[in-house]
Amino acid sequence: MRELKEAVKFLQKQYSETATVGIVLGSGLGNFTEEIQIEKEVEYKDIPHFPVSTVEGHKSKLIFGKLSGKTVVAMAGRFHFYEGYDAAEIIFPIRVMKLLGVQTLLLSNAAGTVNPGHKVGDIMIINDHISFFTPNPLIGKNIMELGTRFPDMSEPYKRQLIEKAKAIAIAHNFDVKEGVYVAVTGPTFETRAEYNFIKVIGADVVGMSTVQECIAANHAGMDVFAMSVITDIGMIEHHNTITHEEVLEAAKNAEPKLAIIFKELVAAI
Ligand code: HPA
Repeated sequence: MRELKEAVKFLQKQYSETATVGIVLGSGLGNFTEEIQIEKEVEYKDIPHFPVSTVEGHKSKLIFGKLSGKTVVAMAGRFHFYEGYDAAEIIFPIRVMKLLGVQTLLLSNAAGTVNPGHKVGDIMIINDHISFFTPNPLIGKNIMELGTRFPDMSEPYKRQLIEKAKAIAIAHNFDVKEGVYVAVTGPTFETRAEYNFIKVIGADVVGMSTVQECIAANHAGMDVFAMSVITDIGMIEHHNTITHEEVLEAAKNAEPKLAIIFKELVAAI
């Protein structure tokens, strides 16, 4: 809590307005920051106790500004378990956002699909998740000031925001999927047997982020909305290989749809 407060105090000195919406941009989706009227940028390395992002395709700064008339804070570049950060480090920025005044958290990521109804470039709104393959970020002493020891997870992704996002897609004549995201550690993509397993356990897509952030946000009482951009097909009958470059390219191509949903969702909050 002391470290969180130091980071928050530092950021409040850099930018005095209160951001009520937080945004986390996933792999290949960093260009969304161009939609924000940027008022202040703060490099992660300058923020006390903040981890620093290392993966290609991710920037490393916190952006404050206006989106659809609201004051927002966006993470250009997030922290992944496979980079070597522990769960507490991964959720540190989410908790900082909460203490800065953020009430609604919008998350995005690139994901592989095991749902035969999906294709590369689709957007899937996450309506639930499976977190059993990555450590729960709330393990350890509970910070009571943030939330309860045993948080309810019956609605990890706010139903009202999901419905609004679907309506936005319909109004703009594009298709969105809805489904379950399973988080894995990476950095390997899955074997065919693993993709098959993921399908069998009831997930639609798989990725290496989002879930720990969602848990921390729920713990702290924030409303969460999350979207996956489908960047690869992970079904057993597809004998395809996957590269990080392909993931970034597919995410970049789907970004305009993501931008419409985020912008209009923020306007409606
Ligand atoms: N698996 C895990 N993470 C991913 C994938 C995938 O197929 N695609 C993008 N991120």
